[in-house]
Amino acid sequence: MATLTHRFEVTLSDTARKEQISSPVPDFGSVTTDHMFIAEYANGQWVNARITPFQNIPMGPASSVFHYGQAIFEGIKAYRQVDGKVKIFRPEKNWERFNTSAERMAMPTIPRDLFMDSITELVQIENLWVPDEEGSSLYIRPFMIATEELLRVKPSDNFLYMVLLSPAANYYSKPLNILVSDHYTRADYGGTGFAKAAGNYARAMKGQVEARAKGYDQMLWMESPDYKYIQESGTMNVFFAIGETLVTPALDGCILDGVTRDSIIQLVRNAGHKIEERRITIDEVLWAHKNNLLRDAFGTGTAASVAPFQKITYKSMDLELPPMAERPFSNDLKTELDKIKYGQTPDIFNWMLEI
Ligand code: COI
Repeated sequence: MATLTHRFEVTLSDTARKEQISSPVPDFGSVTTDHMFIAEYANGQWVNARITPFQNIPMGPASSVFHYGQAIFEGIKAYRQVDGKVKIFRPEKNWERFNTSAERMAMPTIPRDLFMDSITELVQIENLWVPDEEGSSLYIRPFMIATEELLRVKPSDNFLYMVLLSPAANYYSKPLNILVSDHYTRADYGGTGFAKAAGNYARAMKGQVEARAKGYDQMLWMESPDYKYIQESGTMNVFFAIGETLVTPALDGCILDGVTRDSIIQLVRNAGHKIEERRITIDEVLWAHKNNLLRDAFGTGTAASVAPFQKITYKSMDLELPPMAERPFSNDLKTELDKIKYGQTPDIFNWMLEI
């Protein structure tokens, strides 16, 4: 059970929701709830932490986030349990990663209690926004932006830390068709790939647009300059089942340390299956497919949960994955993870935080 250290100043909205949100839950990210959390960073300290009605924030056009892009975020989900309570999935992992991202982007870190309390108190206030439709959740979006008004290039001295909430239906409704990138990259060594920096998502948009225009759901991001090693897909970590073994790219500085990625690895290990975190080439995937050993492939992320791939296209070659009923990992892992998230099975890993 979450214990609060902070008591934030709270201003409630006059028009706040009075009943629990019902079906259909809006598309991912399209609706925000009635309240938000906001704190300011000035003179080396986090101050003025408060919960307010959802509202616009005044910012000068010279604020450094608009020019130099110091911006990081997190994605977390709260789930309506079968007994009606609300629990949040592994928020402490997101706090750790938020601070990893902050350090990489020369931004201030957030104390554990401030991060955890900002989320739990806001979700408590917005309890009626946590849906109970199958596959749905309340998406929690903590983020930090640079607000110093200065056009000189330097790390900002002022920041805003905020938390927004958004009721979320499933991100993908069907298995995905994936295009292997041969000229855009998402991340490079020495860069920010391991951080949840807004710029990582900005640089990936053009590839996503091109993949969509060709009829694909997402890009499979490859390592430059030879486009042989697989990194991620869209905004997800990736897994391939080759024979009996599940393989996922190792955390090499380019790969996001996904909370769902970590959870899948623990579930697979716990079930006694073989899992390898290592470099993986597209040639190995092609070879496995040719030899009928490519048994499953899927992406993982907070938004998408476990998203199976249907087809992977490399140059002009289409690799069709086996029908969903024959997948050895993606179905069972998604079901097992969902059961933990919705409180339908004992939380043996102690992942769920009750609020
Ligand atoms: C996630 O799935 O972890 C995300 O943060 C995706 C989000 C960018 C929509």
